Amino acid sequence: MDFVKKLSEERNLSDCELKELIESSKYDEGLFAAADKKRREIYGDEVYIRGLIEFTNYCKNNCYYCGIRRDNKNAERYRLGEEDILACCEEGHRLGFRTFVLQGGEDPFYTDKMLCDIISEIRSRFEDCAITLSVGEKTKESYKAFFDAGANRYLLRHETASEAHYKKLHPDSMSLETRKKCLFDLKEIGFQVGSGFMVGSPYQTTENIIEDIRFLQKLQPDMIGIGPFISHEETPFSSFENGGMELTLRLISILRLIFPYALIPSTTALGTINPQGRELGLKAGANVVMPNLSPVNVRKLYTLYDNKICTGEEAAQCKGCLENRVKSAGYRIVTDIGNVKKEKEKICR
Ligand code: 5AD
Ligand code: FES
Repeated sequence: MDFVKKLSEERNLSDCELKELIESSKYDEGLFAAADKKRREIYGDEVYIRGLIEFTNYCKNNCYYCGIRRDNKNAERYRLGEEDILACCEEGHRLGFRTFVLQGGEDPFYTDKMLCDIISEIRSRFEDCAITLSVGEKTKESYKAFFDAGANRYLLRHETASEAHYKKLHPDSMSLETRKKCLFDLKEIGFQVGSGFMVGSPYQTTENIIEDIRFLQKLQPDMIGIGPFISHEETPFSSFENGGMELTLRLISILRLIFPYALIPSTTALGTINPQGRELGLKAGANVVMPNLSPVNVRKLYTLYDNKICTGEEAAQCKGCLENRVKSAGYRIVTDIGNVKKEKEKICR
């Protein structure tokens, strides 16, 4: 049977079938078309925007791939205060953003109390907005406190679902088990949860990617973020090759067909490895873009990888630029909170 047809209809394939689909370019055209058809059935031509506020590039972790890792002594560090963050939200709201994503390294400077104060202030000023956090691994109690303060979504990529591969990307102080526990804690508390992985990270195999898909099938996240690995010169992985665009696009389509309702961003990393990357990501099934709302003077400092795009533009320019790009790809940016759509329950009588 035709793999693409089977994946569209059954939302699943065997490991063997997935391997063939992941490793071959010959299905791409049909795969991208099937994924686009599926996204249009559920989300039409709407693309949701999320305003990304990178509020600290301090990090206590030391992931081998990441440019803001603790041991990168050449990184110039910065932190935004509550007023700076609120100013980003004000500007974003004026421009039509209805989701703010507070992202940062794991920075103990921001206590739970500080984060909760920031969250509740955003919540009271912008009632019609979603607040998304992306601040790494915390205790369940901390997550609950953030939720109670008014946060509703949380992004935490699992990075790789293979125990052995996880160890190759992270120092011993970090564990896949903890990462997974965090994700299930977040779900239990009631967050809309996003996870995901890098494509073409060092030592990644097709089998690892299949494990990633299987893990996502267990987690059933609302949001799935994937992007190519891009080397950063001040990390232990500086000499590794970047992940590929083709494979990233193929995986976006596969994920769209397995998770028809998921919110899938066309990532900045994809736009960094190819000037048309984000447009192609949308055509392959992605339905979210995340322009930068951080103050322009700190944007260049939040460098997880080299040559990151969109570090020079103002928020308004960045939104305008993306609007044109989205339009050129055949879709439309909307001013909407952009919650995940849920499948209607089949009514059995
Ligand atoms: N290349 C691509 N993506 C990266 N990330 C971190 N470092 C890199 C890199 N060098 C991704 C991780 C993280 C997300 C915020 O950015 O997947 O979860
Ligand atoms: Fe930021 Fe194009 S999206 S400048």
